[in-house]
Amino acid sequence: MDYKKVIAKLNEALRHEWTGVAQYSQAGFLVSGVWREVYSEKFFDDAKESFGHAKDVGEKIVALGGVPTIERNQVKQTDNLDEMLRNALEFEQAAVKLYADAIGLAEDARDRALVVFLENILEDEQEGVDEYSKILREPGAAAKKKSSTKAG
Ligand SMILES: [Fe+2]
Repeated sequence: MDYKKVIAKLNEALRHEWTGVAQYSQAGFLVSGVWREVYSEKFFDDAKESFGHAKDVGEKIVALGGVPTIERNQVKQTDNLDEMLRNALEFEQAAVKLYADAIGLAEDARDRALVVFLENILEDEQEGVDEYSKILREPGAAAKKKSSTKAG
């Protein structure tokens, strides 16, 4: 079985995870104001999640005969919390796409174990998208929806 394409996609995912380690850590360092108490820890937890995924993906790349990348992508830097949160959502959405693409390649290779391995990570990434989407949702949006349903 030729895993060249899978390894290349996993290395793309690994680059993304290294980016997450740096981007979330910097957000954790820089977040200020009253929300620092909440978000500094959340951003560091996400940096740790990225490192955990990087470790698992790096180990898998080696298992498949590849060399894990040490490169990362450009970090989106800001000291504005709202921008940090939008960057985080964008980051998680990009991760979902990367792992979904990798799953497609693993399916082409008919490697069920690799599909399951990637699905577990995909689940974490989708949780990230869901969580940041809720954080960024306008407060009261659900109530408004409910009342407009009532009115309609
Ligand atoms: Fe991740």
